[in-house]
Amino acid sequence: MASIERGTVTHAAKSEDSSRATALDGTALDNEAYVSAEFFDSEVKKIFRATWMLAGFAHEVSDAGDSLPVTIGGIPMILVRGRDGEVRAFHNVCVHRGMPLIDKPCRKRAFITCPYHLWTYDLEGRVRNRPHFFRGGEHDISENGRDDVRLAAIRCDSWHDLVFVNLDGKAEPLADFLRPLTERLQHYDLDALNWSRDVEYDIASNWKLIAENHIDALHIFGVHPALNKFADQATRPCTEAFGHLFFGCYSFPDPEKGRGLGMPYFPGLSAKARQEAPWFYLFPNVMGQVYPDQLLVIQLIPESHERTRERVHFYFVGDAAHDDAFEEGRRQAHETYTSVLAEDIPVCEALQRGRVSEGFTGGVLSPFWDKATFELAERVRERLG
Ligand code: FES
Ligand SMILES: [Fe+2]
Repeated sequence: MASIERGTVTHAAKSEDSSRATALDGTALDNEAYVSAEFFDSEVKKIFRATWMLAGFAHEVSDAGDSLPVTIGGIPMILVRGRDGEVRAFHNVCVHRGMPLIDKPCRKRAFITCPYHLWTYDLEGRVRNRPHFFRGGEHDISENGRDDVRLAAIRCDSWHDLVFVNLDGKAEPLADFLRPLTERLQHYDLDALNWSRDVEYDIASNWKLIAENHIDALHIFGVHPALNKFADQATRPCTEAFGHLFFGCYSFPDPEKGRGLGMPYFPGLSAKARQEAPWFYLFPNVMGQVYPDQLLVIQLIPESHERTRERVHFYFVGDAAHDDAFEEGRRQAHETYTSVLAEDIPVCEALQRGRVSEGFTGGVLSPFWDKATFELAERVRERLG
């Protein structure tokens, strides 16, 4: 077994798995990655813009003409549902003089109207009306919208309820980005899910500390006593890294309220899967937790190097998402997970405060539990070069 001695990692098990053992001879990220605004700016350019980011949820723009402002890493965008049912993304800025177009969700509007000089765009982003454009009283009106003057589009694609954007337009197809996850969740019929509710947190922490905490399977016994009772630390596996996917799955002996008791399960789950709880992190901003009766999708919205919004969306199977008969089950699931978050968020905020200390230089890592944290650091280092 590997062991930790005097702040270094040694690897008695090297001959069994030399590549894994060698990887842990490095460290996670040092303090600059968490406390530097310049570092965050580099992440925006080289990570957030260059991959698929979870921007919003299809149910938030459920009808044609619905639009939603979204800002991730300081980049303002809007998601718009078109008359054809497609969800599109645009930069949230008018092409005339650069005015932000909307600052709150809008419902069932036929057009997007800039609040400054009232240019009007159709739902596909084409400019339609430009009042007094030529001179007072002489308007530019294009019944079908102008193809040559349009909002700056952002590459956008959806998977179930999740709407992703890729700002630089160069990322792999979304299906390829998601494949490592969809293959591991293929025995869950995600089509059976319906959205139920969401809860949002404003966290004084760098986005990576929240992600690192999500893939840190070692902190359960110290931070989450109820969760540890549900599935003991001694029985838990660590999170494994598969490129940009971080994935783990623990087994629990018996379901309990809020986690698999009294709510309908995904159809066709095997006996084994009925006692399993996979968790995942899709670098950089999607985290999740699956139970036999629910899916939690957690969206990280990095706002600065020291501020992150976290949105947690709850999905249940079939009618359980809305039917009154399952209200108590939904309440328990909500309470169960928000209790976990109430334990996690202070940890993330404390870790952020700890990152100003000269006494921390990237970490002394457990060769079993911290592989994922090391791999996350590698994803950041690879991107930032
Ligand atoms: S800035 Fe939008 S209409 Fe002028
Ligand atoms: Fe936790």
